[in-house]
Amino acid sequence: MTIFAIESSCDDTAAAVVRDGREVLSSVVSSQVARHVEFGGVVPEIAGRMHCEAISLVARQALEEANTDIADIDAVAVTAYPGLIGSLLVGVNFAKGLAMTAHKPLIPVHHLRGHIAANYITHPDLKPPFLCLVVSGGHSHIVEVTDYTHMRIIGRTRDDAAGEAFDKTARTMGLPYPGGVHMDKLAEDGNPNAFTFPVPKVSGSPYDFSFSGLKTAVINTIHHMNQKGEEIPRADMAASVRRSVVNILTDRFLLAARHTGHKTLVLAGGVSANSLLRRRMDEICREQGCRLYYPALPLCGDNAAMIGAQAFYEFQTGLTADLSLNARAERSIEI
Ligand code: KG4
Ligand code: ZN
Repeated sequence: MTIFAIESSCDDTAAAVVRDGREVLSSVVSSQVARHVEFGGVVPEIAGRMHCEAISLVARQALEEANTDIADIDAVAVTAYPGLIGSLLVGVNFAKGLAMTAHKPLIPVHHLRGHIAANYITHPDLKPPFLCLVVSGGHSHIVEVTDYTHMRIIGRTRDDAAGEAFDKTARTMGLPYPGGVHMDKLAEDGNPNAFTFPVPKVSGSPYDFSFSGLKTAVINTIHHMNQKGEEIPRADMAASVRRSVVNILTDRFLLAARHTGHKTLVLAGGVSANSLLRRRMDEICREQGCRLYYPALPLCGDNAAMIGAQAFYEFQTGLTADLSLNARAERSIEI
């Protein structure tokens, strides 16, 4: 089954052609980062407008690169939730128009389920059940994936998402948007023990995360150093922040793995590109005899190939939408 997929939930306009949920025939991503960088974050109105400008071109390029025509596609898939509503609507309306005119089924896909499915592309052997740490710019969850379309959230962030924690602290340090990537690079040259930041526990919820204390601690430290006229050792600061975020994530994830008995562990979402998170998890899983999977780097961030992959499994359960499909800014990964 060949699926043409569209993704436009945040600041990437993407289209892809994917066969049987695993084989990527083309994947085109048009990033808006260069436009948003001057504002230090995504400006929703600009994002929506830029999706409108890019989507036809990106879609055509994906079909061309796959050497296929819309008539040869079996279904059209689209990220329908969650995300920036103005951005999602562009993709959803485009996909609806395409499905209607080409007389193809329309498959709505949850963005975070797509992030998980990026792993099916990278690892042909990976099958549920497994425990997944889904860490993006907008969400941070520990999800038990019992089947391709059955998921249960067993831990979540109480405040910022992991990517947001990276981006906000990076911004305080004067790093450009998206801060997570820049902080990761800078941290490679720093001392992770130069600064100690809190690793909070959420009382009564052992698998939940909280990043607001870390964010405040970083802001205060920088503020005090500025007041004293001290120069911020940026690489050391980046390495220390990265170590704290990774500690918070791995602590909870490994505890959840131990308690649920899962031995197959999966990372997903933009933050799964983080080099320390990948290294640390590699080490621990080797020691503890767990199998660890994470997506190839180009599939960690937003892309449409992952949406085409998940759509294949959603379609197997009979999920399709009609033209009343609407985008939604929020929706649980469980339903
Ligand atoms: O999944 P994603 O591309 O978009 C959302 O669905 O939100 O995730 C974007 C987030 C941003 O916060 C970005 O800073 C973070 O992923 N990110 C990273 C790295 N690469 C991207 N965070 C830490 N280390 C990285 N290498
Ligand atoms: Zn994403």
